[in-house]
Amino acid sequence: TKRKLWGGRFTGATDPLMHQYNQSLAYDKRMYAADVKGSIAFSKALQKAGIVSSNEQAEIERGLRVVEEEWKNGKFDIKADDEDIHTANERRLSEIIGKDIGGKLHTGRSRNDQVATDMRIWLMDEAETIKQYLKDLIAVMANRAEKEVDILMPGYTHVQRAQPVRWSHLLLSYAHGFLTDLDRLNGIIPRISVLPLGGAALAGNPYGLDREFLRAELGFQTIGENSMHIVPDRDFVMEFLQWASLLMVHMSKMAEDLIIYSTAEFGFVQLSDAYSTGSSIMPQKKNPDSLELLRGKSGRVFGQMAGFMMTMKGTPSTYNKDFQEDKEPLFDCVDTVSASIRIAEGVIATMSVNKEKMREALTADMLATDLADYLVRKGVPFRETHHISGRAVALAEKNNIQLSDITYEQFKELSDKFEPDVVESVFNFENSVEKRNALGGPSRSGIERQIQVLKKGIETE
Ligand code: ARG
Repeated sequence: TKRKLWGGRFTGATDPLMHQYNQSLAYDKRMYAADVKGSIAFSKALQKAGIVSSNEQAEIERGLRVVEEEWKNGKFDIKADDEDIHTANERRLSEIIGKDIGGKLHTGRSRNDQVATDMRIWLMDEAETIKQYLKDLIAVMANRAEKEVDILMPGYTHVQRAQPVRWSHLLLSYAHGFLTDLDRLNGIIPRISVLPLGGAALAGNPYGLDREFLRAELGFQTIGENSMHIVPDRDFVMEFLQWASLLMVHMSKMAEDLIIYSTAEFGFVQLSDAYSTGSSIMPQKKNPDSLELLRGKSGRVFGQMAGFMMTMKGTPSTYNKDFQEDKEPLFDCVDTVSASIRIAEGVIATMSVNKEKMREALTADMLATDLADYLVRKGVPFRETHHISGRAVALAEKNNIQLSDITYEQFKELSDKFEPDVVESVFNFENSVEKRNALGGPSRSGIERQIQVLKKGIETE
Protein backbone atom coordinates (compact mmCIF):
# COMPACT_ATOMS: atom_id res chain seq x y z
CA THR A 1 0.00 0.00 0.00
CA LYS A 2 1.13 3.51 -0.75
CA ARG A 3 2.15 5.60 2.21
CA LYS A 4 3.52 9.01 2.90
CA LEU A 5 7.21 9.34 3.50
CA TRP A 6 6.44 10.24 7.10
CA GLY A 7 3.57 7.77 7.43
CA GLY A 8 4.98 5.29 9.99
CA ARG A 9 2.96 6.48 12.96
CA PHE A 10 -0.19 7.00 10.91
CA THR A 11 -3.00 4.50 10.52
CA GLY A 12 -5.54 6.72 8.74
CA ALA A 13 -5.22 8.23 5.28
CA THR A 14 -4.93 11.96 4.58
CA ASP A 15 -8.15 13.63 3.54
CA PRO A 16 -7.86 14.35 -0.20
CA LEU A 17 -8.58 18.04 0.19
CA MET A 18 -6.08 18.17 3.05
CA HIS A 19 -3.47 16.59 0.80
CA GLN A 20 -4.16 19.21 -1.83
CA TYR A 21 -4.09 21.99 0.77
CA ASN A 22 -0.85 20.73 2.26
CA GLN A 23 1.12 19.98 -0.89
CA SER A 24 3.58 22.49 -2.27
CA LEU A 25 4.97 20.43 -5.14
CA ALA A 26 2.83 22.29 -7.65
CA TYR A 27 5.03 25.33 -7.13
CA ASP A 28 8.17 24.24 -5.29
CA LYS A 29 9.10 21.86 -8.11
CA ARG A 30 10.86 24.81 -9.68
CA MET A 31 13.54 24.32 -7.03
CA TYR A 32 14.31 20.80 -8.22
CA ALA A 33 17.88 21.61 -9.25
CA ALA A 34 18.65 23.29 -5.93
CA ASP A 35 17.16 20.32 -4.09
CA VAL A 36 19.32 17.88 -6.05
CA LYS A 37 22.40 20.02 -5.52
CA GLY A 38 21.77 20.21 -1.77
CA SER A 39 21.19 16.46 -1.55
CA ILE A 40 24.35 15.58 -3.46
CA ALA A 41 26.42 17.75 -1.13
CA PHE A 42 24.61 16.22 1.82
CA SER A 43 25.38 12.67 0.63
CA LYS A 44 29.06 13.61 0.51
CA ALA A 45 28.88 14.91 4.08
CA LEU A 46 27.22 11.62 5.08
CA GLN A 47 30.09 9.75 3.51
CA LYS A 48 32.64 11.89 5.36
CA ALA A 49 30.82 11.05 8.58
CA GLY A 50 30.86 7.33 7.78
CA ILE A 51 27.08 6.99 7.38
CA VAL A 52 27.26 5.90 3.75
CA SER A 53 30.11 4.19 1.92
CA SER A 54 31.75 5.77 -1.09
CA ASN A 55 29.90 3.32 -3.35
CA GLU A 56 26.62 4.23 -1.73
CA GLN A 57 27.38 7.94 -2.09
CA ALA A 58 28.15 7.39 -5.78
CA GLU A 59 24.84 5.55 -6.21
CA ILE A 60 22.94 8.34 -4.48
CA GLU A 61 24.63 10.93 -6.65
CA ARG A 62 23.96 8.94 -9.82
CA GLY A 63 20.31 8.52 -8.86
CA LEU A 64 19.91 12.19 -8.06
CA ARG A 65 21.35 13.13 -11.45
CA VAL A 66 18.71 10.92 -13.07
CA VAL A 67 16.03 12.66 -11.00
CA GLU A 68 17.36 16.03 -12.13
CA GLU A 69 17.37 14.96 -15.77
CA GLU A 70 13.79 13.77 -15.48
CA TRP A 71 12.67 17.15 -14.18
CA LYS A 72 14.69 18.97 -16.81
CA ASN A 73 13.16 16.93 -19.64
CA GLY A 74 9.64 17.08 -18.28
CA LYS A 75 9.76 13.32 -17.66
CA PHE A 76 9.39 13.35 -13.89
CA ASP A 77 6.29 11.36 -13.04
CA ILE A 78 4.52 13.05 -10.14
CA LYS A 79 2.76 10.54 -7.86
CA ALA A 80 -0.45 11.21 -5.97
CA ASP A 81 1.31 11.04 -2.61
CA ASP A 82 4.18 13.40 -3.49
CA GLU A 83 3.93 16.32 -1.12
CA ASP A 84 6.74 18.66 -1.99
CA ILE A 85 9.91 18.69 -4.07
CA HIS A 86 11.87 17.11 -1.21
CA THR A 87 9.60 14.10 -0.70
CA ALA A 88 9.10 13.68 -4.45
CA ASN A 89 12.82 13.63 -5.18
CA GLU A 90 13.55 11.24 -2.32
CA ARG A 91 10.74 8.91 -3.35
CA ARG A 92 11.99 8.85 -6.93
CA LEU A 93 15.62 8.40 -5.86
CA SER A 94 14.70 5.23 -3.96
CA GLU A 95 12.82 3.92 -6.97
CA ILE A 96 15.90 4.42 -9.11
CA ILE A 97 18.65 3.15 -6.77
CA GLY A 98 16.59 1.07 -4.33
CA LYS A 99 15.38 1.82 -0.81
CA ASP A 100 18.38 0.25 0.90
CA ILE A 101 20.68 3.02 -0.23
CA GLY A 102 18.15 5.73 -1.07
CA GLY A 103 16.72 5.43 2.42
CA LYS A 104 20.02 6.58 3.95
CA LEU A 105 20.06 10.01 2.31
CA HIS A 106 17.86 11.74 4.88
CA THR A 107 20.01 10.70 7.86
CA GLY A 108 20.49 13.67 10.20
CA ARG A 109 18.49 15.91 7.89
CA SER A 110 15.01 17.38 8.14
CA ARG A 111 12.94 18.93 5.43
CA ASN A 112 13.20 22.01 7.62
CA ASP A 113 16.91 22.57 7.00
CA GLN A 114 16.53 21.10 3.51
CA VAL A 115 13.87 23.53 2.31
CA ALA A 116 15.65 26.53 3.80
CA THR A 117 18.87 25.48 2.06
CA ASP A 118 17.12 24.90 -1.26
CA MET A 119 15.44 28.29 -1.18
CA ARG A 120 18.66 30.10 -0.41
CA ILE A 121 20.48 28.28 -3.22
CA TRP A 122 17.65 29.07 -5.59
CA LEU A 123 17.45 32.74 -4.61
CA MET A 124 21.21 33.29 -4.82
CA ASP A 125 21.05 32.04 -8.38
CA GLU A 126 18.09 34.24 -9.26
CA ALA A 127 19.75 37.25 -7.63
CA GLU A 128 22.73 36.89 -9.98
CA THR A 129 20.38 36.89 -12.98
CA ILE A 130 18.50 39.91 -11.67
CA LYS A 131 21.76 41.76 -11.11
CA GLN A 132 22.67 41.23 -14.74
CA TYR A 133 19.25 42.50 -15.90
CA LEU A 134 19.72 45.62 -13.79
CA LYS A 135 23.16 46.21 -15.24
CA ASP A 136 21.77 45.88 -18.75
CA LEU A 137 19.03 48.40 -17.97
CA ILE A 138 21.50 50.90 -16.52
CA ALA A 139 23.81 50.45 -19.52
CA VAL A 140 20.97 51.17 -21.96
CA MET A 141 20.17 54.36 -20.06
CA ALA A 142 23.80 55.47 -19.97
CA ASN A 143 24.21 54.88 -23.70
CA ARG A 144 21.05 56.74 -24.51
CA ALA A 145 22.10 59.66 -22.30
CA GLU A 146 25.44 59.80 -24.08
CA LYS A 147 23.81 60.01 -27.52
CA GLU A 148 21.13 62.49 -26.49
CA VAL A 149 23.17 64.75 -24.27
CA ASP A 150 22.27 67.84 -26.37
CA ILE A 151 18.53 67.56 -25.82
CA LEU A 152 17.03 70.04 -23.34
CA MET A 153 13.63 69.75 -21.70
CA PRO A 154 11.67 71.32 -18.88
CA GLY A 155 12.43 69.81 -15.52
CA TYR A 156 9.30 69.55 -13.36
CA THR A 157 8.49 69.70 -9.69
CA HIS A 158 4.89 69.11 -8.63
CA VAL A 159 4.42 68.35 -12.36
CA GLN A 160 4.76 72.12 -12.87
CA ARG A 161 7.44 73.46 -15.16
CA ALA A 162 10.41 74.32 -12.98
CA GLN A 163 13.82 74.74 -14.63
CA PRO A 164 15.45 73.62 -17.86
CA VAL A 165 17.50 70.43 -17.64
CA ARG A 166 19.07 68.03 -20.05
CA TRP A 167 16.81 65.12 -20.97
CA SER A 168 19.79 62.91 -20.21
CA HIS A 169 19.81 64.25 -16.65
CA LEU A 170 16.27 62.97 -16.11
CA LEU A 171 17.08 59.65 -17.75
CA LEU A 172 20.16 59.20 -15.60
CA SER A 173 18.19 60.07 -12.49
CA TYR A 174 16.38 56.77 -13.02
CA ALA A 175 19.66 54.97 -13.70
CA HIS A 176 21.12 56.19 -10.42
CA GLY A 177 18.08 54.88 -8.60
CA PHE A 178 18.58 51.49 -10.21
CA LEU A 179 22.26 51.58 -9.29
CA THR A 180 21.25 51.93 -5.65
CA ASP A 181 18.94 48.95 -6.16
CA LEU A 182 21.87 46.97 -7.48
CA ASP A 183 23.98 48.02 -4.52
CA ARG A 184 21.18 47.14 -2.11
CA LEU A 185 20.73 43.72 -3.71
CA ASN A 186 24.43 43.07 -3.24
CA GLY A 187 23.96 44.17 0.33
CA ILE A 188 21.42 41.47 1.15
CA ILE A 189 23.26 38.61 -0.54
CA PRO A 190 25.53 37.87 2.47
CA ARG A 191 22.37 37.30 4.50
CA ILE A 192 20.86 34.99 1.89
CA SER A 193 24.14 33.10 1.71
CA VAL A 194 24.02 31.57 5.20
CA LEU A 195 23.89 27.77 5.38
CA PRO A 196 21.05 26.10 7.35
CA LEU A 197 21.90 22.52 6.28
CA GLY A 198 23.06 20.37 9.18
CA GLY A 199 20.70 22.20 11.53
CA ALA A 200 18.12 19.42 10.89
CA ALA A 201 14.61 20.01 12.28
CA LEU A 202 15.70 22.46 14.98
CA ALA A 203 18.23 20.74 17.23
CA GLY A 204 21.15 19.99 14.94
CA ASN A 205 22.41 16.54 13.98
CA PRO A 206 24.14 13.91 16.09
CA TYR A 207 26.43 12.63 13.32
CA GLY A 208 29.10 15.30 13.41
CA LEU A 209 28.26 16.31 9.82
CA ASP A 210 30.91 18.68 8.51
CA ARG A 211 29.01 21.89 7.95
CA GLU A 212 32.11 23.75 6.78
CA PHE A 213 32.41 21.12 4.07
CA LEU A 214 28.73 21.61 3.18
CA ARG A 215 29.19 25.37 3.08
CA ALA A 216 32.11 25.10 0.65
CA GLU A 217 30.36 22.44 -1.47
CA LEU A 218 27.26 24.58 -1.88
CA GLY A 219 29.04 27.92 -2.25
CA PHE A 220 27.55 29.61 0.79
CA GLN A 221 29.41 32.52 2.38
CA THR A 222 28.81 31.56 5.99
CA ILE A 223 27.23 28.90 8.23
CA GLY A 224 24.21 29.48 10.46
CA GLU A 225 25.57 29.44 14.01
CA ASN A 226 22.38 28.46 15.82
CA SER A 227 20.15 25.75 14.42
CA MET A 228 17.03 27.14 16.09
CA HIS A 229 17.75 30.49 14.47
CA ILE A 230 18.89 29.56 10.99
CA VAL A 231 16.60 26.64 10.12
CA PRO A 232 13.32 28.59 10.39
CA ASP A 233 14.88 31.96 9.48
CA ARG A 234 12.96 33.58 6.63
CA ASP A 235 14.40 37.07 7.01
CA PHE A 236 16.14 36.55 3.69
CA VAL A 237 12.75 36.10 2.00
CA MET A 238 11.30 39.20 3.64
CA GLU A 239 14.40 41.21 2.85
CA PHE A 240 14.25 40.18 -0.77
CA LEU A 241 10.57 41.11 -0.97
CA GLN A 242 11.37 44.47 0.62
CA TRP A 243 14.21 44.96 -1.82
CA ALA A 244 11.87 44.13 -4.70
CA SER A 245 9.28 46.56 -3.36
CA LEU A 246 11.72 49.44 -3.29
CA LEU A 247 12.89 48.62 -6.80
CA MET A 248 9.27 48.67 -7.95
CA VAL A 249 8.76 52.11 -6.35
CA HIS A 250 11.48 53.33 -8.69
CA MET A 251 10.02 51.46 -11.66
CA SER A 252 6.57 52.83 -11.03
CA LYS A 253 7.78 56.41 -10.72
CA MET A 254 9.69 56.20 -13.98
CA ALA A 255 6.72 54.57 -15.69
CA GLU A 256 4.41 57.31 -14.48
CA ASP A 257 6.73 60.02 -15.86
CA LEU A 258 6.94 58.36 -19.24
CA ILE A 259 3.19 57.77 -19.40
CA ILE A 260 2.66 61.49 -18.89
CA TYR A 261 5.39 62.42 -21.36
CA SER A 262 3.96 60.10 -24.00
CA THR A 263 0.54 61.79 -24.04
CA ALA A 264 -0.30 63.93 -27.08
CA GLU A 265 -0.41 66.90 -24.71
CA PHE A 266 3.29 66.46 -23.88
CA GLY A 267 4.52 64.43 -26.84
CA PHE A 268 8.05 64.27 -25.44
CA VAL A 269 8.48 60.55 -25.98
CA GLN A 270 6.82 57.91 -28.09
CA LEU A 271 6.88 54.25 -27.20
CA SER A 272 7.84 51.78 -29.89
CA ASP A 273 5.15 49.49 -31.24
CA ALA A 274 6.95 46.62 -29.54
CA TYR A 275 5.94 47.93 -26.12
CA SER A 276 2.52 49.39 -26.89
CA THR A 277 -0.88 47.94 -27.56
CA GLY A 278 -3.95 49.09 -29.44
CA SER A 279 -7.59 49.54 -28.60
CA SER A 280 -10.25 47.07 -29.65
CA ILE A 281 -12.63 49.92 -30.50
CA MET A 282 -10.64 53.09 -31.12
CA PRO A 283 -8.43 52.53 -34.16
CA GLN A 284 -6.18 55.52 -33.47
CA LYS A 285 -5.15 54.39 -29.99
CA LYS A 286 -1.61 53.41 -29.05
CA ASN A 287 -1.51 52.71 -25.37
CA PRO A 288 1.59 52.54 -23.14
CA ASP A 289 0.60 49.20 -21.59
CA SER A 290 4.19 48.26 -20.83
CA LEU A 291 4.56 51.33 -18.61
CA GLU A 292 1.16 50.88 -17.04
CA LEU A 293 2.06 47.31 -16.14
CA LEU A 294 5.36 48.42 -14.63
CA ARG A 295 3.34 50.80 -12.49
CA GLY A 296 0.59 48.28 -11.82
CA LYS A 297 2.81 45.35 -10.94
CA SER A 298 4.48 47.41 -8.24
CA GLY A 299 1.25 47.06 -6.26
CA ARG A 300 1.40 43.31 -6.66
CA VAL A 301 4.96 43.18 -5.31
CA PHE A 302 4.15 45.40 -2.31
CA GLY A 303 1.20 43.12 -1.60
CA GLN A 304 3.34 39.98 -1.62
CA MET A 305 5.82 41.66 0.69
CA ALA A 306 3.18 42.84 3.16
CA GLY A 307 1.33 39.53 2.94
CA PHE A 308 4.33 37.42 3.82
CA MET A 309 5.33 39.74 6.67
CA MET A 310 1.87 39.12 8.08
CA THR A 311 2.31 35.37 7.67
CA MET A 312 5.53 35.48 9.67
CA LYS A 313 4.46 37.75 12.49
CA GLY A 314 3.33 35.93 15.57
CA THR A 315 4.62 32.50 14.56
CA PRO A 316 6.49 30.86 17.43
CA SER A 317 10.15 29.88 17.34
CA THR A 318 11.39 27.19 14.92
CA TYR A 319 9.63 25.75 11.90
CA ASN A 320 5.89 26.02 11.39
CA LYS A 321 4.00 25.00 8.28
CA ASP A 322 2.98 28.62 7.84
CA PHE A 323 6.46 29.06 6.38
CA GLN A 324 5.54 27.03 3.32
CA GLU A 325 3.64 30.19 2.34
CA ASP A 326 7.02 31.84 1.68
CA LYS A 327 7.35 30.30 -1.74
CA GLU A 328 4.59 31.70 -3.87
CA PRO A 329 5.27 35.35 -2.94
CA LEU A 330 9.00 34.87 -3.38
CA PHE A 331 8.68 33.11 -6.73
CA ASP A 332 6.12 35.59 -7.94
CA CYS A 333 8.23 38.59 -6.95
CA VAL A 334 11.34 37.14 -8.55
CA ASP A 335 9.38 36.57 -11.76
CA THR A 336 7.68 39.97 -11.66
CA VAL A 337 10.83 41.90 -10.91
CA SER A 338 12.91 40.03 -13.49
CA ALA A 339 10.36 40.62 -16.21
CA SER A 340 9.81 44.24 -15.17
CA ILE A 341 13.50 45.11 -15.42
CA ARG A 342 13.74 43.56 -18.87
CA ILE A 343 10.58 45.27 -20.07
CA ALA A 344 11.89 48.60 -18.78
CA GLU A 345 15.12 47.99 -20.67
CA GLY A 346 13.20 47.31 -23.88
CA VAL A 347 10.97 50.36 -23.45
CA ILE A 348 13.92 52.68 -22.84
CA ALA A 349 16.01 51.20 -25.64
CA THR A 350 13.30 51.51 -28.28
CA MET A 351 11.25 54.62 -27.47
CA SER A 352 11.78 57.74 -29.53
CA VAL A 353 12.38 61.15 -28.05
CA ASN A 354 10.91 64.24 -29.66
CA LYS A 355 13.51 66.90 -29.00
CA GLU A 356 11.51 69.64 -30.77
CA LYS A 357 8.53 69.06 -28.50
CA MET A 358 10.79 69.16 -25.47
CA ARG A 359 12.37 72.36 -26.74
CA GLU A 360 9.00 74.01 -27.46
CA ALA A 361 7.93 73.34 -23.90
CA LEU A 362 10.75 75.47 -22.55
CA THR A 363 9.43 78.93 -21.63
CA ALA A 364 11.27 82.00 -20.44
CA ASP A 365 9.55 82.00 -17.05
CA MET A 366 11.52 78.84 -16.27
CA LEU A 367 14.55 81.13 -16.13
CA ALA A 368 13.13 83.29 -13.34
CA THR A 369 15.58 81.66 -10.95
CA ASP A 370 18.40 82.53 -13.36
CA LEU A 371 17.16 86.12 -13.37
CA ALA A 372 17.42 86.15 -9.59
CA ASP A 373 20.87 84.54 -9.81
CA TYR A 374 21.92 87.36 -12.20
CA LEU A 375 21.29 89.92 -9.49
CA VAL A 376 23.00 87.77 -6.86
CA ARG A 377 26.14 88.09 -8.95
CA LYS A 378 25.66 91.88 -8.81
CA GLY A 379 25.75 91.69 -5.03
CA VAL A 380 22.01 91.68 -4.18
CA PRO A 381 20.96 89.19 -1.43
CA PHE A 382 19.12 86.19 -2.92
CA ARG A 383 15.96 86.68 -0.86
CA GLU A 384 15.67 90.17 -2.40
CA THR A 385 16.53 89.02 -5.94
CA HIS A 386 13.85 86.31 -5.62
CA HIS A 387 11.33 89.04 -4.91
CA ILE A 388 12.51 91.25 -7.78
CA SER A 389 12.41 88.35 -10.22
CA GLY A 390 8.93 87.51 -8.95
CA ARG A 391 7.80 91.03 -9.75
CA ALA A 392 9.22 90.65 -13.25
CA VAL A 393 7.20 87.42 -13.65
CA ALA A 394 4.07 89.26 -12.50
CA LEU A 395 4.77 92.12 -14.94
CA ALA A 396 5.14 89.69 -17.87
CA GLU A 397 1.97 87.89 -16.85
CA LYS A 398 0.03 91.15 -16.57
CA ASN A 399 1.16 92.29 -20.02
CA ASN A 400 0.69 88.82 -21.46
CA ILE A 401 4.30 88.65 -22.70
CA GLN A 402 7.23 86.35 -22.13
CA LEU A 403 9.59 87.12 -19.27
CA SER A 404 12.32 87.55 -21.89
CA ASP A 405 10.25 90.19 -23.70
CA ILE A 406 10.61 92.62 -20.80
CA THR A 407 12.86 95.45 -21.94
CA TYR A 408 16.05 96.55 -20.28
CA GLU A 409 14.31 99.82 -19.27
CA GLN A 410 11.50 97.90 -17.55
CA PHE A 411 14.02 95.67 -15.76
CA LYS A 412 15.87 98.79 -14.66
CA GLU A 413 12.69 100.00 -12.95
CA LEU A 414 12.57 96.78 -10.92
CA SER A 415 16.21 97.09 -9.83
CA ASP A 416 18.95 99.53 -10.68
CA LYS A 417 21.41 96.64 -10.53
CA PHE A 418 20.19 95.35 -13.92
CA GLU A 419 22.58 96.12 -16.79
CA PRO A 420 22.01 96.11 -20.56
CA ASP A 421 23.29 92.53 -20.89
CA VAL A 422 20.43 91.16 -18.75
CA VAL A 423 18.17 89.83 -21.49
CA GLU A 424 20.96 88.26 -23.49
CA SER A 425 22.83 86.71 -20.60
CA VAL A 426 19.84 85.33 -18.67
CA PHE A 427 17.46 84.10 -21.34
CA ASN A 428 19.42 81.30 -22.86
CA PHE A 429 18.43 77.76 -21.92
CA GLU A 430 21.78 76.19 -22.80
CA ASN A 431 23.60 78.73 -20.64
CA SER A 432 21.21 78.10 -17.80
CA VAL A 433 21.94 74.38 -17.87
CA GLU A 434 25.67 74.81 -18.41
CA LYS A 435 25.97 77.17 -15.46
CA ARG A 436 24.77 74.34 -13.26
CA ASN A 437 28.09 72.57 -13.46
CA ALA A 438 28.61 71.89 -9.78
CA LEU A 439 28.85 68.15 -9.06
CA GLY A 440 25.51 66.46 -9.63
CA GLY A 441 24.10 69.10 -11.95
CA PRO A 442 22.74 68.88 -15.51
CA SER A 443 25.66 70.51 -17.35
CA ARG A 444 27.35 68.56 -20.10
CA SER A 445 30.32 67.79 -17.88
CA GLY A 446 27.90 66.68 -15.19
CA ILE A 447 26.25 64.22 -17.57
CA GLU A 448 29.61 62.88 -18.70
CA ARG A 449 30.67 62.33 -15.14
CA GLN A 450 27.42 60.53 -14.31
CA ILE A 451 27.83 58.21 -17.27
CA GLN A 452 31.31 57.33 -16.04
CA VAL A 453 30.07 56.71 -12.50
CA LEU A 454 27.25 54.49 -13.75
CA LYS A 455 29.50 52.51 -16.07
CA LYS A 456 32.00 51.99 -13.29
CA GLY A 457 29.17 51.07 -10.94
CA ILE A 458 27.89 48.28 -13.15
CA GLU A 459 31.43 46.97 -13.55
CA THR A 460 32.20 46.83 -9.85
CA GLU A 461 28.86 45.96 -8.27
N1 ARG B 1 7.19 21.94 1.91
C1 ARG B 1 7.64 22.36 3.19
C2 ARG B 1 7.88 23.87 3.17
O1 ARG B 1 7.94 24.38 2.11
C3 ARG B 1 8.92 21.67 3.53
C4 ARG B 1 9.20 21.59 4.98
C5 ARG B 1 8.25 20.67 5.62
N2 ARG B 1 8.60 20.44 6.97
C6 ARG B 1 7.74 19.92 7.84
N3 ARG B 1 8.15 19.77 9.05
N4 ARG B 1 6.52 19.63 7.49
O2 ARG B 1 7.99 24.51 4.17
